[in-house]
Amino acid sequence: MKDPKVILITGASSGIGEALALEYATEGVTVILVGRDLDRLDSVAAQCRDFGAEVRLATIDVTEGKFFSQWLEGVDSTTPIDLVIANAGISGGTSGGGEPDEQVRRIFAVNVDGVLNTVHPLIARMTERRRGQIALMSSLAAFRGFPGAPAYCASKAAVRSYGESLRGALAPDGIEVSVICPGFIRTRMTEVNGFKMPFLMEAGRAARIVKRGLARNKARIAFPFPTYFAAWLIGALAPTLTDPWLRRTPKKPALEEPKAE
Ligand SMILES: NC(=O)c1ccc[n+]([C@@H]2O[C@H](COP(=O)([O-])OP(=O)(O)OC[C@H]3O[C@@H](n4cnc5c(N)ncnc54)[C@H](OP(=O)(O)O)[C@@H]3O)[C@@H](O)[C@H]2O)c1
Repeated sequence: MKDPKVILITGASSGIGEALALEYATEGVTVILVGRDLDRLDSVAAQCRDFGAEVRLATIDVTEGKFFSQWLEGVDSTTPIDLVIANAGISGGTSGGGEPDEQVRRIFAVNVDGVLNTVHPLIARMTERRRGQIALMSSLAAFRGFPGAPAYCASKAAVRSYGESLRGALAPDGIEVSVICPGFIRTRMTEVNGFKMPFLMEAGRAARIVKRGLARNKARIAFPFPTYFAAWLIGALAPTLTDPWLRRTPKKPALEEPKAE
């Protein structure tokens, strides 16, 4: 959608979500920021206001489905949302061992249920208006399961596939759906990685690419190209060819917040 006027972003308190909020913030635009950390959200909100945007913010855990849904419906009733970006997410890996059950479930709860909790309350409303855009944050990790981060890869694969399906399902209702698949972006999420991240990109640049892709209603916004091509190829090749190499790839550290708060 070109020039959305009301944009809701989850995970707006840091990283890509923060960069997207700053990218969209301008006069005549309302940005609605969702995250859990009030201090960081306040700081993003202040920067958005400096750019002339109207700002609403809320500290909400996206896994709190019922409360989140009621809040979203209230917000959409007073400020109909043009573009929702379901961006909040967490990641964690195996650190080389197994992945604890608690971590797996928390990653699925935030990355999959959290995305559904963000977009489902808005679909019927957008359908009624025959207007709206939904952007789902997946990852290049969606193209092949990596042994170092099983739950993260699986959660992002689910989001990617769901978004691709929704796009076709909702097109007749006039709703645009895009799936975002970034490679390595410099954020709090990747700063814990103790390995070299190829083609690491700054969050501001990533946000500009995403905004441009959403304005063009691209089905898949995947970048940077070299990492996208590598992810696509690894996913396309037979597992017997890729498994031995994948088993030697670096392992992401375990999640630091596996417990549900
Ligand atoms: N960085 C990368 O290389 C990369 C690559 C591909 C995809 N992604 C995806 O991009 C998205 C943003 O990640 P990032 O890299 O920008 O990391 P980040 O800086 O850690 O940002 C994650 C955001 O999600 C929010 N969040 C986490 N759990 C939440 C919950 N339960 N409820 C509400 N908000 C929650 C965090 O807010 P609070 O801390 O305030 O809760 C924060 O604003 C994620 O979905 C991630 O998987 C990142």
